[in-house]
Amino acid sequence: MAVDVIDYLRERIKGKGIRIVFPEGKDPRIVTAVARLHKEGILKPILLGRKEEIEKASKEAGVDVSDVIQIDPERTYIFEDLVKSFVEIRKGKATEEQARELLKNVNYFGTMLVQLGKADGMISGAIHSTGDTVRPALQIIKTRPGSSRTSGAILMLGPNGERMVMADMAINITLDAQQVAEVAIDTALTAKTFDMEPKVAMLSFSTNGSASSPEQEKMANATKIAKEIIAKEGYTFELDGEMQFDAAVAPEVGRLKFPNSKVAGDANVFIFPSLEAGNIGYKIAQRLGNYDAIGPVLQGLNKPVNDLSRGCNADEVYKLAIVTAAQVN
Ligand SMILES: CC(C)(COP(=O)(O)OP(=O)(O)OC[C@H]1O[C@@H](n2cnc3c(N)ncnc32)[C@H](O)[C@@H]1OP(=O)(O)O)[C@@H](O)C(=O)NCCC(=O)NCCS
Repeated sequence: MAVDVIDYLRERIKGKGIRIVFPEGKDPRIVTAVARLHKEGILKPILLGRKEEIEKASKEAGVDVSDVIQIDPERTYIFEDLVKSFVEIRKGKATEEQARELLKNVNYFGTMLVQLGKADGMISGAIHSTGDTVRPALQIIKTRPGSSRTSGAILMLGPNGERMVMADMAINITLDAQQVAEVAIDTALTAKTFDMEPKVAMLSFSTNGSASSPEQEKMANATKIAKEIIAKEGYTFELDGEMQFDAAVAPEVGRLKFPNSKVAGDANVFIFPSLEAGNIGYKIAQRLGNYDAIGPVLQGLNKPVNDLSRGCNADEVYKLAIVTAAQVN
């Protein structure tokens, strides 16, 4: 991530004592990032795992995390309390026996710490799949009021200092108009976390009704619904659509194709109609346009949980931890 965004977020969270749980304490990349975050006093890390596993990882990484809070889910006195709370939260979807088994899994345990207010956020995924990282959060933390689906935003940093946010890049294969509208609102709020003034473009292969099909209609409806939400909630950012990507970013095309739009030609937040379009789109910008892609940052949840790539390095863990802490309300 470009230094300026991370610097900005680091300053915003520093000294607030934000507690982030790292379930993968047995991974050398995780302990390396945790040692740095702890030493710099940016946040309060909580490492999960067996003592001997954390020690082994620290030795391998050449770092000292002995004064970081460490919890072994299978040997902590709070385990049975978490089991009881889990059964209550899942309301008939898990027996006590199932809860006991699930909570031995560090991602379930970590997510429960966040849900019960013993931590403020969590990052995992260096050694777990996206599904295994995200599922406990979907089941336990759930989405915030007004957001029926969690989604994944990517912060795109361009070679000339451009800063853009795009979604959904990671979670929902298809969404209906209402859900796309909610993702658009969540993405604008994520952009604000990154110190941006959001101008949201609802993307399509059509601009302002230039084509007609169920797909175009979906994005036109999503735009209408999102505008209603903005008016109702009193948000102050601009949103418009449906529009093509060139109409969204190129002022001359925006003026021509969508003359009355306050977003066309000047958009910095892009909402894609499907995961297929979004995921392909950001990778084109990344590979052919030399954009840096940061994320996915999960949004729409009641409390922040983020998913690392399994190919991540310690620096990326460090940065995503800072982003996660910045999402704490
Ligand atoms: C995120 C994901 C792993 C969830 O899958 P899953 O566990 O099979 O989901 P399920 O349908 O069994 O639902 C599990 C729970 O999560 C909830 N849920 C699922 N998707 C959700 C979403 N997007 N937002 C909010 N809640 C969601 C369900 O309502 C369910 O809750 P419940 O148990 O309280 O009823 C899945 O949507 C996925 O794999 N998405 C695509 C990810 C991907 O391949 N990305 C590629 C680019 S990185």
